[in-house]
Amino acid sequence: MNVDIGNALSAVAAPGISRAALERLDEQVADAHERIDAGMEAGEHGYAALNLPNRTDTDEIQVAVDRVTGPDTSAVLTVGIGGSALGAATITDALNDADDPEAIYLDNVDPDWLSATLDRLDLETTVLNVVSRSGTTAETLANFLVVRETFEEAGVDWTERTIVTTGDGGPLRELAERHNLPSLAVPDGVPGRFSALSAVGLVAAAVCGHDLDALLRGAAAEAETLTGSLFECPAYAYGAVTYALDARGASTNAMMPYAESLETYAEWFAQLWAESLGKDDLGQTPVRALGVTDQHSQLQLYRAGPRDKLVTFVTVQETAARPIPDTDVDDLSYLGDASLGDLLDAEFEATEASLAAAGRPNVRVEIDRVDEFELGGLLYGMEVACVLAGELYGVNTFEQPAVEWAKKATRGLLGGGEFAEAEAVAEKTELR
Ligand code: PA5
Repeated sequence: MNVDIGNALSAVAAPGISRAALERLDEQVADAHERIDAGMEAGEHGYAALNLPNRTDTDEIQVAVDRVTGPDTSAVLTVGIGGSALGAATITDALNDADDPEAIYLDNVDPDWLSATLDRLDLETTVLNVVSRSGTTAETLANFLVVRETFEEAGVDWTERTIVTTGDGGPLRELAERHNLPSLAVPDGVPGRFSALSAVGLVAAAVCGHDLDALLRGAAAEAETLTGSLFECPAYAYGAVTYALDARGASTNAMMPYAESLETYAEWFAQLWAESLGKDDLGQTPVRALGVTDQHSQLQLYRAGPRDKLVTFVTVQETAARPIPDTDVDDLSYLGDASLGDLLDAEFEATEASLAAAGRPNVRVEIDRVDEFELGGLLYGMEVACVLAGELYGVNTFEQPAVEWAKKATRGLLGGGEFAEAEAVAEKTELR
């Protein structure tokens, strides 16, 4: 990926960062890089995720997937939540076309939505992909039990079409072993939201026939850019500039890809940024937007509202050629000389320029096209940016105590164990 930070400089934008401040920040980046490099080298928790491009065994994933797929596979139903779903969903939503098995994700436990999703599936030809690092997440296990029962009621042998990815020792691992299901491990030291380039994110992509090695090659190419300077490494430039802008008042980061296929990527980014950096009263609030759609809604606020935002554009250099048909209506003739891709580009350029003209900071992230290689680079690059930002903030990027608090409280309220968090909820409820 390429990153253009020109519109985040104080010569253009407020808040913005000056050249001198950028030079000073680069010294902090060099120190942070040493820490990241050492963490990667030692395979430390969290930092180990940045080794995935050279560590993930795609043959092992493919062998496991081949046990549950066949030429008639029509869909892959992933049951998982948060980091155990969003990476996979980002990849399949970006890469799937009409000929691929449909990739569906069950993360929420909304019963109406779940029933409607299951009702429209041909279970005989659906692969069930259950993913939970801990193997204890209530939403995932509950949805899995409901889906399993649905298969049984339809007379379909779920054990022949279920693949499990989980950590060691949890109830999901036990279940996989009891039923001799093909199962894959969540690699050690890799937190959920950093696991897109492991089996967690790649099983659904493999069922859909995507090139896992190309995804990893793209990520590995991005890893090659990790020098100790933001002036040489696009991912560090992005992480450092977002951190600096947040410190100067841009407390919201609107991620706005100009590609419908990257809408889920914005969701993945929002989780990565929020769950990794939102600690110790620090962190930048990520917002999901989509170009061009949100030009007709959120853009008004971004250009003329409070000066507390950074807009991050993701642009795709090569898009499909789809000419706009000619018409004999004079006022529309300008469209007939263009393609939809030209229109998309013009919309992006106009939006970027309009923000810059209003002095609003924005950063452009460019990828060549939406394919496995480029997507692998984008996911990896944003993970690196996030890890760097975490170092600069001085937070523990790889823990998520607030998320764990709610998980324990939920389990406790349902009688799944004794948790102080559940007691705290009960006390608050009594006070009402
Ligand atoms: O990034 C994280 O750690 C979380 O978003 C988890 O991925 C999410 O809570 C699901 O956890 P698990 O994979 O243990 O079911």
